[in-house]
Amino acid sequence: MLHDPNHLYIFDTTLRDGEQVPGCQLTTPEKIDIAKDLERLGVDIIEAGFPVSSPGDFQSVVELSKAVNNVIICALTRANKNDIDVAAEALKYAKRPRIHTGIGSSDVHIQYKFNSTREEILERAVAAVKHAKGYVEDVEFYAEDAGRADLEFLAKMVEGVIAAGATVVNIPDTNGYCLPEQYGAKIKYLKENVKNIDQAIISAHCHNDLGLATANSIAAVKNGARQVECTINGIGERAGNTSLEEVAMILKVHNKEFGNLTSNIDTKMFTYISRKVSEMMNMPVQPNKALVGRNAFAHSSGIHQDGFLKHRETYEIIRPEDVGLEEADIILTARSGRHALKHHLERLGYQLDKEALASVYEKFLVMADAKKDVNDDDLHALVK
Ligand code: KIV
Ligand code: ZN
Repeated sequence: MLHDPNHLYIFDTTLRDGEQVPGCQLTTPEKIDIAKDLERLGVDIIEAGFPVSSPGDFQSVVELSKAVNNVIICALTRANKNDIDVAAEALKYAKRPRIHTGIGSSDVHIQYKFNSTREEILERAVAAVKHAKGYVEDVEFYAEDAGRADLEFLAKMVEGVIAAGATVVNIPDTNGYCLPEQYGAKIKYLKENVKNIDQAIISAHCHNDLGLATANSIAAVKNGARQVECTINGIGERAGNTSLEEVAMILKVHNKEFGNLTSNIDTKMFTYISRKVSEMMNMPVQPNKALVGRNAFAHSSGIHQDGFLKHRETYEIIRPEDVGLEEADIILTARSGRHALKHHLERLGYQLDKEALASVYEKFLVMADAKKDVNDDDLHALVK
């Protein structure tokens, strides 16, 4: 597969790794609805499911393949013939199909999950890629638990699967174990020591067990990964996957740091798609979640509100419009200053002179100490 080395490929796995979360299951029409939004959002690849896992998941991959035209549709498999045959069948209507196959790469997986040896695992990995290549040109290989794998063995595995035809090599930190510098160093090592590495894209797939999924994915990109696997709102197994919104916005805000890598993501869709996925999957978004949490653009302390009202750049590195929100919120609490109160009163049509404002402000503080926040009805009552 020809790939653009100056592009960061966004691989969305909301409908696969995200949908594995208990309570997040979607029907096929719901998945199609989200997939169409992901396509409009500008993701490059949609991981549609794990076809062998259930008849419902198989059917979803079939229907998504028919419904989505402009992005790669990917299906997950384990490294065995039957999984791959079933995935290929599910992908038969996809305009741009990808099979994502793989196997454990850490000794703990090799020993306890597979009761096997490194040599045997390597053979199975290569055989799986060759089998998948019989169906599709675009084959991604995942080295599960690469975060804890022996580096030399990982490099050997990566070299072997690329020689077998893998177009993308996914280096998952399956258990969210690595520190950013460790994960970045792994990618760098593969870049420098795998002789055929330039024939494939390196992909970062990070879990958030230590809250480092985004930092690790970014470290990977800095060290040569050109695909990031992520989900809307960072949903996924246990503590979740890398959040798509975070990666895309980091790339936008710090574009020069990444050598002006391109991305097709329309960040203005973030609020819309985050709310939609949260509602459909029944997974609330934490209020302080970066970019899409309820408080992500809400200023509540007096010092911040005063600075913000003087010049928004004092406390705003991203415009709310850039995530599809109309405006930032100035929340009235007992920590708010006169400036914030005046701003809200003017918004409601009240022009008070200095003395009147001081008097309303005193009453406001008493009310704000008693209530969690002060709303428009409260302000009308205070002025009256
Ligand atoms: O976390 C992981 O290792 C995965 C693989 C199946 C890609 O989700
Ligand atoms: Zn995963």
